[in-house]
Amino acid sequence: MPFPSILLLAAVAASAHAKYSFNPLHHLAGVAPYFEPETPAFDPAPPQGCNVTRAAYLVRHAAIYANDFDYEEYLAPFVDKVKASQLSNSSIDWSRSRTLSFLAAWTSPVSEVEEEMLTKIGQLEAFKLGVDVGERYPSFSQPGKVWTSTAERTVKSADSFISGLVTKVNETTLVQVSEGEEEGADSLTPYEGCPAYSSSRGSSQSSTYQNIFTAPILSRFRAQVPAFNWTANDISGMFEMCGYETVIRGSSPFCSLDLFSANEWLGFEYANDLQYFHNTGYGSPISGVIGYPWVNATAALLMADSDNATGAQQDLYVSFSHRELPPTVLVALGLFNNSAFSDTNDVNATMPVDEINPYRAWVSSKILPFLTNIAVEKMECDSYGYQDTAATTGEYYRVLVNQSPQLLPGCVDGPGFSCSKSGFGKLVRERGEMFGGFSRKCGVEYGNSSDVLGIYSS
Ligand SMILES: *[C@@H]1O[C@H](CO)[C@@H](O)[C@H](O)[C@H]1NC(C)=O
Ligand SMILES: *[C@@H]1O[C@H](CO)[C@@H](O)[C@H](O)[C@H]1NC(C)=O
Ligand SMILES: *[C@@H]1O[C@H](CO)[C@@H](O)[C@H](O)[C@H]1NC(C)=O
Ligand SMILES: *[C@@H]1O[C@H](CO)[C@@H](O)[C@H](O)[C@H]1NC(C)=O
Ligand SMILES: *[C@@H]1O[C@H](CO)[C@@H](O)[C@H](O)[C@H]1NC(C)=O
Ligand SMILES: *[C@@H]1O[C@H](CO)[C@@H](O)[C@H](O)[C@H]1NC(C)=O
Ligand SMILES: *[C@@H]1O[C@H](CO)[C@@H](O)[C@H](O)[C@H]1NC(C)=O
Ligand SMILES: *[C@@H]1O[C@H](CO)[C@@H](O)[C@H](O)[C@H]1NC(C)=O
Ligand SMILES: *[C@@H]1O[C@H](CO)[C@@H](O)[C@H](O)[C@H]1NC(C)=O
Repeated sequence: MPFPSILLLAAVAASAHAKYSFNPLHHLAGVAPYFEPETPAFDPAPPQGCNVTRAAYLVRHAAIYANDFDYEEYLAPFVDKVKASQLSNSSIDWSRSRTLSFLAAWTSPVSEVEEEMLTKIGQLEAFKLGVDVGERYPSFSQPGKVWTSTAERTVKSADSFISGLVTKVNETTLVQVSEGEEEGADSLTPYEGCPAYSSSRGSSQSSTYQNIFTAPILSRFRAQVPAFNWTANDISGMFEMCGYETVIRGSSPFCSLDLFSANEWLGFEYANDLQYFHNTGYGSPISGVIGYPWVNATAALLMADSDNATGAQQDLYVSFSHRELPPTVLVALGLFNNSAFSDTNDVNATMPVDEINPYRAWVSSKILPFLTNIAVEKMECDSYGYQDTAATTGEYYRVLVNQSPQLLPGCVDGPGFSCSKSGFGKLVRERGEMFGGFSRKCGVEYGNSSDVLGIYSS
C-alpha cells in the first residue's frame, strides 16, 4: 500500500521545523564531559576501498573532580558563600527565587581532597574509549606500550583505556613520561619546558568578555537574592559546576536552562574560547611550536616501513596528556583555523573580545573536552581515480578529532578527502619550517633541551 502522502508531508513538515533544542553539556569548554560533535559531518568510517593499517592517538585525561585553578578561582569561593548562606543565622532566603531555590539545600560534590582525581564517570568513559578504539581497528595487534604523562589523572585514564582496549592487560606496558620542566620537546607536557608559554595568557581577553556576558545574569540574580554578594566569578563557577557535578553525580541542577538560557551558555563558551585561543591556540605564536614535536614524531611512526630499524613496532600508538597539548597539535596541523579560506591572517580580528563571533572555527568545547582525542590514521586504499601522482602507492593519511574527520589544509587529494603520502610528508615538512626549533623559540635556558619528541623510540 502506498504511503499516504498527507502523512508523509506532515512527517516532513515536522522534521523540517524541529523544535529548538540545546544541550549545555556540549558548550562547557574544558569542563565538557566527553562527546563526539560530528563536525564537520564527514563519515568517520574508513573511506570506501580503504583499510586503516596504523594509527596514533593523543588523548586528554578523562573527567576529574575539579582542576586546581578552577577550584580556587571559581568553585571554592562560590561554594563557601553558599555554605554560609545555609546557616541558620544567614539573612539569605533562596526560596524567594524560583530558579535559585535549590541552593537552599544543595551541597558541593567537589572537595579539595579529591580535586584533581578522576571521577568514576571519567574512568568509565576512558574504558569505553578503549573499547571503541579496539572495535575500530579489529585487525590491529595489541600495543606493547601506551604512553602517559606522570600525573595521576593521566595515568589512571590510560589504565582504564588499556582495560577497555585489550584482553591481556599485563601484556601492554604503560610508559610514564616525566612532566618535568627540563625535558624540552621530549615529553607529553612540552609546554612545561617552554618558558615562552604562559599559563595565564588569554585571561585578560577572557575576563573582558566574562564581564560582558555575566552582567545581565548578575543583575537578575542580585534582584532575586540581593544579600548574596554576587560576583562575575560566582557566575562562571556556576557554569563550571554544571560540568563538574555532571561528571561526579551524573546530573546537576546548574545545567537547567531555566537557570541560564542557551544564549548565556554560548556567552560562557565564548569567554572560554578566548582564553584557549590566546593560551594554546592561534592567538599565541608559540602554540604551533609546542604541538609540532608530537606531529613530527607521529608522522615518523606512521610513515615508517614496517620494520624494527625505523622504530615502528606497533599498529597503534596511544599517548595521554593534559588539556594544553591537543589544541597546540591542532595549530601545528593547521586545523580549526578561524582564518582558513581567507586571504588574511589577523588572528585577533577573528576573536573580538567585546562580541561573540558565532562563525569561528575555534570552539574549545569541540577541541578540548575531557578525554578529547586526536587520531592520525594511515590507510591503504584501492584509490581508483585517486592515484597519488608522485608515487605508485595507495597510502593515505587523515586526522580525526573526537571521531570526526578533519581536512588537512591543502591536502585533500585522497579518498574521503584524505591526504596522499607525498602530500602528508610535504605538509609535515612545511609545518616544521613554520614551527620547528622548539628550544630556540621557547627561549629555553637549560643546556640539555631537545627539539624532538623521542619517547616512542626508546
Ligand atoms: C553565623 O554563624 C557562623 C557559625 O556559627 C559564624 O561563623 C558567622 O560569623 C555567623 N554569621 C553572622 C552573620 O552572624
Ligand atoms: C599475562 O598473564 C597471563 C595469565 O595470567 C600469563 O599466562 C601470561 O604469561 C602473562 N604475560 C606476561 C607478559 O606477563
Ligand atoms: C635535562 O636534565 C634534567 C636534569 O638532570 C633531566 O631531568 C631532564 O630529563 C634532561 N632533559 C632531557 C631532554 O634529556
Ligand atoms: C563581596 O565580594 C567581594 C569580592 O569577592 C569582597 O571583596 C567583599 O568583601 C564581599 N562583601 C561582602 C559583604 O561579603
Ligand atoms: C620487531 O622486534 C620484536 C621484538 O623486539 C619482534 O618480536 C618482532 O618480530 C620484530 N618485527 C619485525 C618485523 O622484525
Ligand atoms: C591560518 O590561516 C591563514 C589564512 O589561510 C594562514 O595565513 C595561517 O598561516 C594559518 N595559520 C596556521 C598556524 O596555520
Ligand atoms: C593580539 O592582541 C594581543 C592583546 O591585545 C596583542 O598582545 C597581540 O600582539 C595581538 N596579536 C597580533 C598578531 O596582532
Ligand atoms: C582491505 O582489507 C580487506 C580485508 O582484509 C582486503 O580484502 C582488501 O584487499 C584490503 N584493501 C586494501 C586496499 O588493502
Ligand atoms: C622531525 O623529526 C625528525 C626525526 O624523525 C628530525 O630529524 C627532524 O629534525 C624533525 N623536524 C623538525 C622541524 O623538528
